[in-house]
Order: sequence, then structure tokens, then C-alpha cells
Amino acid sequence: MTTEIRVLDAEDELTEAANLFRTAMVGFPPLRNLAPGQITTLLEPGRTIGAFVDGRLVGTAEAVTSGLTLPGGAVVGHAAVTHIGVLPSFTRKGIATELIHHQLHDIAARGEVVATLRASEATIYERYGYGVASSSQSVEVHTARAAVRLGVGAGGPVRLIDAAEAWDLLPRIYAENRSSRPGTIDRPDVWWHGLRLRAESASGASYVAVQGERGAESGFARYRPIDTETWFVSDQRTIVVEDFFAPSAEAYLGLLRFLLELDLIDRVTFWMLPVDDPLPWLLVDRRAARVTAVHDETWLRIIDVQQALSARRYEGDGTVTIAVNDPLLPKNSATFTIAASGAEPTDRRPALHVGVEGLAAALLGGTTWHSLAAGGLVRAEDPAALTVADRLFAVRDAPYAGFFF
Ligand SMILES: CC(C)(COP(=O)(O)OP(=O)(O)OC[C@H]1O[C@@H](n2cnc3c(N)ncnc32)[C@H](O)[C@@H]1OP(=O)(O)O)[C@@H](O)C(=O)NCCC(=O)NCCS
Repeated sequence: MTTEIRVLDAEDELTEAANLFRTAMVGFPPLRNLAPGQITTLLEPGRTIGAFVDGRLVGTAEAVTSGLTLPGGAVVGHAAVTHIGVLPSFTRKGIATELIHHQLHDIAARGEVVATLRASEATIYERYGYGVASSSQSVEVHTARAAVRLGVGAGGPVRLIDAAEAWDLLPRIYAENRSSRPGTIDRPDVWWHGLRLRAESASGASYVAVQGERGAESGFARYRPIDTETWFVSDQRTIVVEDFFAPSAEAYLGLLRFLLELDLIDRVTFWMLPVDDPLPWLLVDRRAARVTAVHDETWLRIIDVQQALSARRYEGDGTVTIAVNDPLLPKNSATFTIAASGAEPTDRRPALHVGVEGLAAALLGGTTWHSLAAGGLVRAEDPAALTVADRLFAVRDAPYAGFFF
């Protein structure tokens, strides 16, 4: 079986690839009623690839150009990888492997420093050098019990906006109020177009609230009611907050109070919050907020280890020497000395040995070197080096992106 991999440009091929992915996912219906040319507004030109067997499209993968914030605030070139799928009749023949290898080399050739994705299953991507670099939590708030402590600020003013206004205003709010949290990603235009398409083709109610004076908004929440069949008489009226962008205390408190104080609503479910979100500390009864799930969020692949290590900040006064192994992108296999002054290639004897997938998991500070060592992802010549590495890689804010793509 010979597989040909190439970039897909033609509209019909792009639509076929989008629907191939949806077939591979089983639970997603095909895209219907796309206007002529619409598919090209949902994809970045040149970044959708297809795998052909005997001339038939059987697999696809895609990426979008973005940026990702490292600890310390540097934003590095980032490929947001998505829509990887192989037709069920062609799986386990190495097709995804060929697509992903092809894509990783393309990302490297573009000079991007990291790639990230959201994984449908946790057992697929580590073999390609991806590691879990951030997590998010789902939190359900029982509003009747959710009194806010005296002394917690009021936050900024919040208003509802029309759906039509949202798709111009939200991208601007997001771009102009970039969070400093590690793991933050740019949201390219094609994602906003995709969100808009989904929102406009959904049948139920949905709402957008923005925080801040007109023209100076700095946060937003997109939310909708669920289980609405018996809404009028229900005593479990629930909204899900699909997108909660609140990078400042003003935005966070304003939007949180607005959502918790909505008339009628018994439960507010936040799909995604950072794992260090302060919410329980704001409530008189902290058990009014219940963590219902913690998910792996950012699966990160370091494309250029030297650039990634030297662009992030390190804490404390220790020094550690780490040998990195990357069989797929061998330029990355090297040893680095890391201290608060930065990271540099070295010939010194390493104290820690890590695969590129383990380094990815540690890069944003989302896990400890001790945890990685416990799982066998790091080998320590000297266990004290794990403590030094943990201090150097520690972050103030847990890494988080807050977006599913
Ligand atoms: C995930 C998917 C793209 C893999 O495609 P594929 O062509 O079968 O993958 P490959 O044949 O290249 O397999 C590569 C390796 O990954 C393993 N693997 C692939 N999919 C896996 C899965 N879902 N769970 C566990 N292991 C998996 C294979 O066993 C193989 O292991 P090996 O290298 O040790 O032999 C395909 O199963 C698919 O389309 N799944 C549904 C859609 C989906 O989940 N996409 C991912 C969205 S994030």
C-alpha cells in the first residue's frame, strides 16, 4: 500500500476532508449546506493535508497558525493542530503516523516553536512527542448556595450583546486583553468563523455577555441553557458557560456575579476553568462549587527545543543539566544547562534524561519533574536534580488555554 500525502487546496477536497474527519469521529454529523466558498473561511490555506491510497482520500490533518504564551510572558510561534482523522476502513495501517510526521516536519520548516492539540483519546499522541502541558476543570455551581463573601469586589459592568454584534466584538476583546497565563493561545479568525457557523446553525437559545464600558470591554462569557424540555417548571434550570474569558479581576468578578445572579438559574456549569481558579475562595459556602471533572487540555509538542527552553523564564537560584531525546526531530536531541539566567546547550554531564514528550509536559509548569520521574518519563542520575528542576520550572499561574479546537 503506498500512501501519498499532499496539501489540499480545492474546495471540494477541503469539504471532503472535513467530512472525512467527522466520519472518523463517529459522533459528528457531516457539514451540510455550506455556501460556496464557505469551507475556505474555516481553514487556513496550505495547512490542511490529505493522505491518499490508490487516489482515494482516506486521512487528513490540519493546523492553524497561532501563538502560545510561555512562563514569563514570551509568545512563541505555535501550530494549533486539529482535525486528524482516518477513515475507519483504513485505520491501523500507519496512515495517521505518516500524516503526523509530515505535519511535524512542515511545522518545523515554518519555524514554529511548539504545536498543540486537544486529544480525543489519551493514548494516541505521546508516541509523536506530545505531552500533557495543561489541564482544565469543569465546575458546577449551585446558585442558591453561592453567596459571595463580603469584601469581594463588584467587578466591572456587564451587558448582554446581540449575536450579530458578538462576532466582531469577541475577537477584538480576546486579542486586546491577552492573558499572561502560560498556555494562553491566540484564536485565529478561522476559529471565530467556525464558532459563528456552529452558533448560527444551533437551534436552542444562547447568550453572550461582555464586561467593561462600551468600547473598552475586557472579558466575555458565552452561555446557553441545557435540558430545556421542561424549562418552565424545572427546579434544575442549568446554564453551561462554554467560553469564559476573564483575564483580569474586574472581568472575572463582573462576569461571575452576573452569571451567578441570573434569575431562574439553579446551576451554572463552567465547562473549562483553570485548575487554580479562585472560585471556592470567593464563596461563603465553598461546597456550592463542585469540581465535576478535570481534563487534560493542552497536548504540546516542542518543535524547537532550544528556542522553547530559552524563551521561557525560570525561577530560583539552582542549576540543572537536562539531556533531551527526540527520535523524530533529531536536531532537538541535545543537553541543556538551565538556570534563572536562561537555558543553554552544554557538553556537561546531564543529571536528568527526558524524552521530548516529558519535556513538553514540564515546559509550561503544568506538572512536576517528580511526577514525571514517578511515571518513568524522566530518569534522574541524581534525585536532588528533580527538586532543583521543580523550583526552576515552577509557575505562579497554572497553565491554561480555555479553548477547545
Ligand atoms: C486516531 C486515528 C487518527 C489513528 O489513525 P491510524 O491511521 O489508525 O493510526 P496509525 O495506524 O498510524 O497508528 C499509529 C499508532 O497509534 C496507535 N493508535 C492509533 N489510534 C489509537 C487509538 N485510538 N488508541 C490507541 N492507540 C492508537 C496504533 O495502534 C499505532 O501504534 P503502533 O505505532 O504502536 O503500532 C484514527 O484511529 C481515527 O481517525 N480515530 C477517530 C478520530 C480521532 O479520534 N481523531 C483524533 C482526533 S484528536
